[in-house]
Amino acid sequence: MGKAKTYFCCQACGYQAAKWLGKCPECGAWNSLVEEVDAKAVAEARPAWGASGGQARPVPLSEVGAETEARRPTGIRELDRVLGGGVVAGSVVLLGGDPGIGKSTLLLSALERLSRHGPALYVSGEESLRQTKMRADRLSVHSPELHLYAETDAEKILGAAESMKPGALVVDSIQTMFLPELGSAPGSISQVREVAGRLMAYAKRTGVPTFIVGHVTKDGSIAGPRVLEHMVDTVLYFEGERGHPFRILRAHKNRFGSTNEIGVFEMKGQGLMEVEDPSALFLAERPVGKSGSVVTSTMNGTRPLLVEVQALVAPTGYGTARRTAIGVDGNRVALLAAVLEKKEDVQLVGCDIFVNVAGGMQLTEPAADLAVCAALVSSLQNKPLDAQTMILGEVGLAGEVRAVGSPEPRLVEAAKMGFKRAILPKGTARRLEQSPLTLVPVETLSEALQAMF
Ligand SMILES: Nc1ncnc2c1ncn2[C@@H]1O[C@H](COP(=O)(O)OP(=O)(O)OP(=O)(O)O)[C@@H](O)[C@H]1O
Ligand SMILES: [Mg+2]
Repeated sequence: MGKAKTYFCCQACGYQAAKWLGKCPECGAWNSLVEEVDAKAVAEARPAWGASGGQARPVPLSEVGAETEARRPTGIRELDRVLGGGVVAGSVVLLGGDPGIGKSTLLLSALERLSRHGPALYVSGEESLRQTKMRADRLSVHSPELHLYAETDAEKILGAAESMKPGALVVDSIQTMFLPELGSAPGSISQVREVAGRLMAYAKRTGVPTFIVGHVTKDGSIAGPRVLEHMVDTVLYFEGERGHPFRILRAHKNRFGSTNEIGVFEMKGQGLMEVEDPSALFLAERPVGKSGSVVTSTMNGTRPLLVEVQALVAPTGYGTARRTAIGVDGNRVALLAAVLEKKEDVQLVGCDIFVNVAGGMQLTEPAADLAVCAALVSSLQNKPLDAQTMILGEVGLAGEVRAVGSPEPRLVEAAKMGFKRAILPKGTARRLEQSPLTLVPVETLSEALQAMF
């Protein structure tokens, strides 16, 4: 097969050039030229999808065969939770994450579990067979049905998969794979797009669940064309802070499940350990009896998680005051600081404000508002909060405390972790029939601060 011609196309105006240019001569856009493949050559090479089971015609919904066992648990509970209860037959899952975060480790462990039901294929374009074997030994992966293949030619990989008929496939990583007919280097936009397209077609046609590893760019998104994320069924990100052993698996997109669920792992020498009780982990090093530390509860899908919000308020040394927030939205912190100043007469002008969520968690829920306010006031006045009190509530611009969702699981989780009292919105408390904690319902920020200090 001859090499397909590629050209560079401006994504803003459609200008075509033979070579890459930093600036489009036609419309003047910067960095908008993207390598594309001659569409005709690719159309000839692309196999038909056949996802409708060989019937290339519209089919009534009622006639579509309901596949039994369409979803298969991998056996790694934290991964299954994020996938929505297991991996769906014929789905393509893209796993992205920083270098060395543990992508290969996670997928090798998952594939060994899947290989207990039949053969499974792990294709590595980054490591030799011996190196993959070394990792497998370290993780105690010894499944006889797990097959390794060190290859980067996507046609050979698909050929091997066709003849082997695995029950699950892992391709590590998409950036190392290439189709010889395209002629461009592995990792280039056209290669990534076409290889992903072939894998997608293979998965849909055969029903083999396929995992693809994707590298991420400096700003944290998956390297390669944005369209890659649109093509695949599920996009997972594996995150973690450098120096922390904790790893959080998060769904960015999921066609077959919620994107709210998270999976928590701990990286150890023997591999990734599932963390059954993440609240204990996030609260492990809490400074009890110190000011500026407040515990709140955040919902991640169906799972409540207790986290510690820390604040440090100190007089500004020189220049303008600094407002730094890690793990919470900086704008949200600025808004809450303004409400505290205006409504509660808390003097934050001339103070540097630092807010941090311990353990590298990200708080996206407004239900953490009241905890942020409490941490700020506690630090400013140097008054510690009662260590057995949990704080919950959204704060409005008028200083009102608004109701939050799913209070029951949050309170049960707090009781499990030894908390005795919860300060929460009146609207939420009213809906509760019983509670494992002593409830302190509040309607306004003033009431809440009074109950706290
Ligand atoms: N002997 C070991 N003991 C403890 N931890 C180890 C050991 N070997 C590797 N690790 C951990 O495993 C991590 C590498 O995992 P893995 O190779 O799965 O990452 P990756 O995301 O696939 O990386 P890449 O993007 O480079 O392919 C290391 O960063 C390290 O934390
Ligand atoms: Mg790897």
